[in-house]
Amino acid sequence: MDLLHYFPQADQKRLRALLAEKSAWLGQEKKGFLRYREPLQSVQHLRASSCDFSGDVVRIGTSNELQADDQERVHQVLRGLTPWRKGPFSVFGVEIDAEWRSQRKWNRITPELPELAGKVVADIGCNNGYYMFRMLPHQPDFVLGFEPYVHHYYAFHILNAFAGQQRLQVEPLGIEHLELFPGCFDVIFCLGILYHRPSPLDALRDLHAALAPGGCLIVESQAIPGSEPVALFPEQTYAKAPGTWFVPTAACLQNWLTRTGFREVRLFCEHAMSSEEQRRTDWMDFESYQDFIDKDNPAFTIEGYPAPRRVFFKAKK
Ligand SMILES: C[S@@+](CC[C@H](N)C(=O)[O-])C[C@H]1O[C@@H](n2cnc3c(N)ncnc32)[C@H](O)[C@@H]1O
Repeated sequence: MDLLHYFPQADQKRLRALLAEKSAWLGQEKKGFLRYREPLQSVQHLRASSCDFSGDVVRIGTSNELQADDQERVHQVLRGLTPWRKGPFSVFGVEIDAEWRSQRKWNRITPELPELAGKVVADIGCNNGYYMFRMLPHQPDFVLGFEPYVHHYYAFHILNAFAGQQRLQVEPLGIEHLELFPGCFDVIFCLGILYHRPSPLDALRDLHAALAPGGCLIVESQAIPGSEPVALFPEQTYAKAPGTWFVPTAACLQNWLTRTGFREVRLFCEHAMSSEEQRRTDWMDFESYQDFIDKDNPAFTIEGYPAPRRVFFKAKK
């Protein structure tokens, strides 16, 4: 079904033009895009006959569904998508142990999961769609993933070519495009995004405006410890990440949410980060959490800032 069908309130003309522009951009004969498009084309005829999205591992198909040559091609295509940041997945029996054990984040959210049945949902910065697949057992009407990075965009499209889930769609859009979706979403997930925004308040205002009246935001962010409502603004990098702007305390994020118009703002989970949850694997062989933290004093990042925690809020429009 046409994406715009789910968004009668959206600025249809501008949205259609933007989607056409993005599609033309992705359709270019650039090496960097063909690197993803050709693998997708080589496997997109393969459809899994069974999927299971209810467990920690997102399972798409089983190993005995494919002939040996198709099995090998799928394996090569999935290996070609390293580094895998979010997971785990099992795809036609190929076990993808991603850098992040994303099931831990999802399992922290599920006790507070808003009603998804029949709802229109957004996942901002959805990466390869791990959480979108996990939403499916909760029967959303439609989930739109916003993911501007081509690598992650294609990872989702390859996974969903196999999984064939019509209720899920990812577009190469960013949080900055939310303004085209006024009052459109019943539920928005914004996980791991805010500290990457140079203006987190503008991001929260855009999230608020994109929610339908009474809609629910689940927001998760990196955070520093402390009870004061303050945010760290790193000189250059934070835990080696260059694109980090403001890292708030939980109290600071609470105030940001309240002052951007959210109500019933509630912190429901806070925890320290660890290399149990984010680590180097066979499917992500670059540096990971343990390389970002001071080895002699794990309470601090490599730059000498307080080590990251994660905080989770639920808030209503
Ligand atoms: C730290 S990851 C978080 C991924 C996932 N939401 C999670 O919590 O595990 C940030 C994600 O946001 C995506 N991203 C980058 N720029 C973005 C933007 N302008 N709007 C939305 N997402 C963006 C990245 O490509 C990446 O997938």
